[in-house]
Amino acid sequence: MASFNLLLLPGDGIGPEVMTEVEKLVRWFGKASGARFETERALVGGSAYDAHGVAITEDAMKLALASDAVLFGAVGGPKWDKVPYEHRPEAGLLRLRKDLGLFANLRPAICYPALADASSLKRELVEGLDIVIVRELTGGVYFGEPKEMVTLENGEKRAVDTQLYTTHEIDRIARVAFDLARKRRNKVASAEKRNVMKTGVLWNEVVTRVHAESFSDVQLEHVLADNCAMQLVRNPKQYDVIVTDNLFGDILSDVAAMLTGSLGMLPSAALGAEDPTTGKRRAMYEPVHGSAPDIAGQGLANPIAMIGSFGMALRYSCGLVKEADLLEKAIANVLASGLKTRDIAGPGTNAVGTTEMGDAVLRELERLTA
Ligand code: IPM
Ligand code: MG
Repeated sequence: MASFNLLLLPGDGIGPEVMTEVEKLVRWFGKASGARFETERALVGGSAYDAHGVAITEDAMKLALASDAVLFGAVGGPKWDKVPYEHRPEAGLLRLRKDLGLFANLRPAICYPALADASSLKRELVEGLDIVIVRELTGGVYFGEPKEMVTLENGEKRAVDTQLYTTHEIDRIARVAFDLARKRRNKVASAEKRNVMKTGVLWNEVVTRVHAESFSDVQLEHVLADNCAMQLVRNPKQYDVIVTDNLFGDILSDVAAMLTGSLGMLPSAALGAEDPTTGKRRAMYEPVHGSAPDIAGQGLANPIAMIGSFGMALRYSCGLVKEADLLEKAIANVLASGLKTRDIAGPGTNAVGTTEMGDAVLRELERLTA
């Protein structure tokens, strides 16, 4: 019997609430799929800082490194605004990404028909939208050195972040994007700023070479990142897979999220390189939304991004493709039935809470497999 070690890192804000819904599903799939899920929990972000004075402990890092997949909730909140920079909640997330080598971040944005009116764009622009942003996740300005703030002799301060990419970092993320496109509509748009940035020139060069060498059957378009942002709100359905760097990917994926109706809808997978001997890859799954401190602890959060992230774990880390399809179907059916959390319910519509939404997905899974 296949057995999987999942590390649950609920984090801060609405993280623990949405994770509770996933835990129900982990138990359900443990019974229904014949696979075994062992779960452990640890703190990350502000909750880790409050308990241990760091955004993630060495013990939690060890658990993450030993796990088959990490399920991550969300981190941060105004409570930790004054925490020293190196211990801020986000530092825990960034360390996980870096130390686990999770360079490939897949952020699918799907607009379910029932939610087309929840988007701030017109229904016809977003209905049926199905795109994936492939974001480079361990390089670029997030991690480039020097990264510092110094006080100059005249008393003025100077802050520096460094945007830095090497050939192999671009090469491997481009391959992920082209591979993925082949399983979809066979189109990749590569977004950079080659008109202003050296890293953009290199990005463009390497993507062009990888395409010519190994993926010439895939349709490739180069787009300037600012234009890509504009195109995403003008005509998002022109895209299939968008591949881009760490910072542009952060921004473009928030835009893509709103196209789907709510930030509460977007799951994501962060994947490492495949181990050539075991075929396994390190992985972490997290909703694209943040910790939403304004609604935390009230049972209002939409758990679908977190549930969808678990679905991606079933698919990419457990190889349970049928189960992942089933979970996606259950989510789609629940949304089609009209059930909505506050973030996706229009004015005057009744909204359900986090638990009701999680339970509805569970009931739908039961119905689909009865
Ligand atoms: C995301 C988030 C993170 C990022 C933050 C919380 C550090 O915005 O995953 O998109 O900037 O990568
Ligand atoms: Mg972001």
